[in-house]
Amino acid sequence: MKPRVYLTRRLPDAVMERLAAQTDLAFHDGAAPVAPEELHAALKDREALIPTVSDRIDAAVLAHAPVLRVIANFGVGYNNIDVAAATKRGIQVTNTPDVLTAATADVAFGLLLATARRFGEGERMVREGRWHGWDPLQLLGADIAGATLGLIGFGRIGQAVAHRARAFDMRVLYWNRTRLEPGIELELGVDYRERDELLAESDFVSLHVAYTPETHHLIDASALARMKPSAILVNTARGSIVDEAALVEALKSGRISAAGLDVFEREPHIHAGLYPLSNCVLLPHLGSATIGTRTRMGMLALDNLLAACAGKRPPNLVNPDALAAAPHR
Ligand code: DGY
Repeated sequence: MKPRVYLTRRLPDAVMERLAAQTDLAFHDGAAPVAPEELHAALKDREALIPTVSDRIDAAVLAHAPVLRVIANFGVGYNNIDVAAATKRGIQVTNTPDVLTAATADVAFGLLLATARRFGEGERMVREGRWHGWDPLQLLGADIAGATLGLIGFGRIGQAVAHRARAFDMRVLYWNRTRLEPGIELELGVDYRERDELLAESDFVSLHVAYTPETHHLIDASALARMKPSAILVNTARGSIVDEAALVEALKSGRISAAGLDVFEREPHIHAGLYPLSNCVLLPHLGSATIGTRTRMGMLALDNLLAACAGKRPPNLVNPDALAAAPHR
């Protein structure tokens, strides 16, 4: 019997075809996220759920899912899911690491370039007919080569950003909960710093930690105050790692020079104070948005789901305790 699956958003064609062939599929086909009532009704007889990172799957949702055994998140970050509540019910939770590392690192580095070299301002100037010719003092930005990049979080994506930065002749510092072996630091060409030192020493700070209660507002007014006035902040991780109100103040007052943001505290709502600021580049959470990456993410979510439904351990299980909580499955 094919597993009964509910998918909250249409995915790339190749994934939809495989889902249709290998599962008993129901899905929400709207341009907007699925409404809670629709999700609750859909989950009443579904064994597997594929949500996206913008669907909140909490205890209230799980209460409507009596036979759910796996939540195969379409995304590497899974802060949209109440993992503790799922574990308690013996529901396995999986994510999609690795397959989006390069695409997300590209966006982080793209934001670094776009903010440093003022692409957004230049693009708007040209489109709005305000460009009257080359000018030696026009839109002068910051140098990349020779500058110091500080990476907060040094997992797969952070390391991929470091790799790109080295190719642009940057010096790279990192902070991570666990420090790497000196030999590996040498091999990657990076130096470790305590977080406050990294903030003070870096020309660019890029965020690559997972969003957890510990990283909520990790970059707040006091962290921003440690940064150089010429520094640029890049966030492709999760919006709530940054206190957006404090960031608006820091950008307005010149406390830091610029910010490149792909993620926001209350997506799709963006702090009203960010819109008028020319020294920030705003993207609509594009980190993994390539056809190849989104296809690989969908395929991996499906691999995880099929494994769980077949009673095997999914390759990207994030809550192994769920297995013990549901020994009968
Ligand atoms: C993720 O996978 O966590 C991204 O934010 C979605 O692309």
